[in-house]
Amino acid sequence: MPEHSRFLEGPFAPVTEEITAFDLPVTGQIPAGLSGRYLRNGPNPLGLDDPDYHWFLGAGMVHGVRLRGGKAEWYRNRWVRSKAVAAQHGETWPAGPVHENMDFAANTCIIAHAGRTLATVEAGPLPYELDEELGTAGPCDFGGTLPGGFAAHTKLDRATGELHAIAYFWAWDHVQHVVVDAAGKVTRTTDIPVPDGPMMHDFALTPSYVVLLDLPVTFSLNAVTQGKELPYVWNGKHQARVGLLPRDGSAPVRWIEIEPCWVFHCLNAYDGNGKVVVDLCQYNQGFDVSTLWSTHGPVTLDRWIIDPAAGKVTQQRLDDRGQEFPRVDDRIISRPHRYGYSAQIGEVTRAITAAGDFGDDAFTNAILKHDLARGTVQAHEFGRDATVGEAVFAPSSADAAEDDGYVMAFAHNPDRGAADLVILAAQDFTAEPVARVHLPTRIPLGFHGNWLPDH
Ligand SMILES: [Fe+2]
Repeated sequence: MPEHSRFLEGPFAPVTEEITAFDLPVTGQIPAGLSGRYLRNGPNPLGLDDPDYHWFLGAGMVHGVRLRGGKAEWYRNRWVRSKAVAAQHGETWPAGPVHENMDFAANTCIIAHAGRTLATVEAGPLPYELDEELGTAGPCDFGGTLPGGFAAHTKLDRATGELHAIAYFWAWDHVQHVVVDAAGKVTRTTDIPVPDGPMMHDFALTPSYVVLLDLPVTFSLNAVTQGKELPYVWNGKHQARVGLLPRDGSAPVRWIEIEPCWVFHCLNAYDGNGKVVVDLCQYNQGFDVSTLWSTHGPVTLDRWIIDPAAGKVTQQRLDDRGQEFPRVDDRIISRPHRYGYSAQIGEVTRAITAAGDFGDDAFTNAILKHDLARGTVQAHEFGRDATVGEAVFAPSSADAAEDDGYVMAFAHNPDRGAADLVILAAQDFTAEPVARVHLPTRIPLGFHGNWLPDH
């Protein structure tokens, strides 16, 4: 057993301070039209040196940069104040509802909905609401309307203003589709029976369906008794299947069996000719999330075409580079997309070849832009030591065309030993960044973020 968890070292190493910095230095020019906050969540354990520490279980820390009028007004990083995190800071916990005693500093994503900024996490705990400057307001159960836990990943349908989520919790015999309306109240929940307690990290949405991924990573009491920090393991006995839930909950889920595989993230999905198209990053071999990256084959961008009439899923490979964190222009969620963005993060997507070696992309750091109409890919390379994170698209204006805008990500700047917020022009993707905002600290590799515009 290693003395230290690899998730406490290198690009994963947590930071130890909360920092506030104003008027940040910039190389290039921040587009004047970008007014809002780029926020990103990720695990940042406090004072742990646990050799078994699992990346998914560190207390959430949100890093944010405020842009306005062509300037980077501030950078802040703040731990989400769960009860435990508040106690470790000697502060009073901003108390609120707790689901099944599962209070946790939500560490996976950060979204804005109905005037709230919410840090989210899956598997039971509630989201935490943050204020404009990333202080913790408290846990959020949507004004008492959420019956259980929530989810890390959500999909906002801009046509209806509804936010969709799939909640799961180890003690449930079902997962739960949750719909939050534009006013921030849960208006509908649908329980979907599933065996074995599967992890459902993400899902997909179309105008007709919620697309469920019931894959062979399931809750394990055995793992609990063995003291594994993350009690979800590969379960070869669990049938992999894709489920189509009519979005209005009017009919049961139509399940279609597939070969075993693992998926953390969908790029997007849409309806087409009676079928459902889902683009996603697929782990093509079995994948044990309890040991994470050490035991998986290539992670590729694939297209699944789900035919409910035939009860069949047809797969196409869109790109065989190792990649993760697929993102689409959020305005287009549930409708046909042309472009997608993803990240090649050597530390995360490195695959083990059949010979037991790292693949060619083991040390690559790049953001990819996929043109799925043309079948082309552009890579913006950051270099071996310049660890990059998830790329988020920000349109140049509210009604701009699909790739008319900017792609943002935190990237490590090895020359400074600190992170930059990198802003690329999406239509001139391989050119020098239009701006690099130089941040005063490292930012550990984390999970998901969003551009939250002021309007
Ligand atoms: Fe995720």
